[in-house]
Amino acid sequence: MSTTIFSHPLITHKISVLRNTDTTCKEFRELVEEIAMLMGYESLRDLPLEDVEIDTPICHATVKMLAGKKLAIVPILRAGLGMVNGLLALVPAARVGHIGLYRDHETLEPHEYYCKLPDDVENRLVILLDPMLATGGSASAAINFIKQRGCKHIKLMSVIAAPEGIARLEKDHPDVEIYCGCLDEKLNEIGYIVPGLGDAGDRIFGTK
Ligand code: PRP
Ligand code: URA
Repeated sequence: MSTTIFSHPLITHKISVLRNTDTTCKEFRELVEEIAMLMGYESLRDLPLEDVEIDTPICHATVKMLAGKKLAIVPILRAGLGMVNGLLALVPAARVGHIGLYRDHETLEPHEYYCKLPDDVENRLVILLDPMLATGGSASAAINFIKQRGCKHIKLMSVIAAPEGIARLEKDHPDVEIYCGCLDEKLNEIGYIVPGLGDAGDRIFGTK
């Protein structure tokens, strides 16, 4: 498994602003989208290119264009929704699937309530989005759904990860590439990332 923790100063700075309790819901939403775009730019640098013949206004030319597999962007509801537009800004033709999971506050186990993926998802590179990788239970369950549909190439993008979440995915899904904006210290006794940013869904949607 490959795990990339970004150290780009723009990503680091924007995550620090996200963490602040004083950051408003509007600012939080905008920042999550910007961070997702910056992380997407870095994590898609291995997309294959192919030669294509075109005519420019000046001459005939062989140019490079994206080749091969198409993309499916799959946010884990709710908080992953906040990252979708950042990725779509980079790859506007990507299809979008949705996986609905919530974490039981007592057991921290994920519960599925929705799953709708593109028909041909097995032929696509799947970019799974969730700003928080805490215990890793939600991401691991979402990856199971995606694999059940025959997908072979999956990248997970999380804004903040806990060491526990990364260890869980290394064990459950060693073939998945993980990209994180930041690796935090630990989980607290109720499963929140420390120092973290609180509940990502509530902060994006203003529900608390
Ligand atoms: C949050 C977050 C992840 C999950 C991470 O969602 O967006 O999906 O917790 O925790 P885990 O790694 O321990 O599974 P939550 O369950 O709070 O649902 P919400 O997005 O609907 O608020
Ligand atoms: N989910 C969140 O939204 N935040 C955390 O810190 C952990 C899980």
